[in-house]
Amino acid sequence: MANKLMILLVSLALVLAAAAATTTHLRFYMHDIVTASPPSYPAATALRAVKGMTPLPNDPTNRFGDTYVIDDSLTEGPEGDSRLVGRAQGYYMFASMTEASLLLSANMVFTAAAGKNYNGSAVAVLARDSILDTVRELPVVGGTGAFRGATGYGLLRTHSFNASSNNAVLQIDMYVQV
Ligand SMILES: *[C@@H]1O[C@H](CO)[C@@H](O)[C@H](O)[C@H]1NC(C)=O
Ligand SMILES: *[C@@H]1O[C@H](CO)[C@@H](O)[C@H](O)[C@H]1NC(C)=O
Repeated sequence: MANKLMILLVSLALVLAAAAATTTHLRFYMHDIVTASPPSYPAATALRAVKGMTPLPNDPTNRFGDTYVIDDSLTEGPEGDSRLVGRAQGYYMFASMTEASLLLSANMVFTAAAGKNYNGSAVAVLARDSILDTVRELPVVGGTGAFRGATGYGLLRTHSFNASSNNAVLQIDMYVQV
C-alpha cells in the first residue's frame, strides 16, 4: 500500500515536472498604432473597419461595435524602433455596451528574432481586454508551427497610451505550453 502510494506520488511529480518543463515564456511589446506618427510610426497598423452606433456611456469617443483590424508590430522592447519579433494580426471589437472592454482575436506571428525555431509560427489568442484594467489575461486557443496545439495564457499590460493619437504600446508576457 505504501509502495503504491509512493509510485503514485513519484508519477505525479514526473507528470508535473514534464508539464512545467515545456512552458515557454515570451515577453514582447505590441504597438497598436491608430494614428501614424513618423518617424517612429510611419503608418497606422490599427484601422477601424466597422463603426459602431452607440457611444459608450463613460467614453463617448468609442462606440459599442467599433472594430479595428490590426497588423501591429511586436518588438523586443517598448521603443518604436526596437527589434521586430513578430506581428499581431487580427481584430479587436468594443464588445460591451457599458464598459471599455474589447474582444481581442489575434494571431501572434513570430519571426526568427523571437527564437530560431519560431520563424513563421503563431500563437492564437481570444481574449476579453478591459483596456482600463492593469492586467488583462489572454487565453491561448491554439498555435501553428513550433506552437502547434499550444495551450497557455498571456498577461497584457498597457505600457504607454497617448490619448490624442490613441496609440498604445502594450507589454505582453506569454506563457505557452506545447
Ligand atoms: C523566416 O521565414 C521567411 C518566410 O518563410 C523566410 O523568408 C526567412 O528567410 C526566414 N528567416 C530565417 C532566419 O529563417
Ligand atoms: C501624442 O500624440 C500626438 C498626436 O499624434 C502627438 O503630437 C504627440 O507628440 C504624442 N505624444 C507623445 C508623448 O508621444
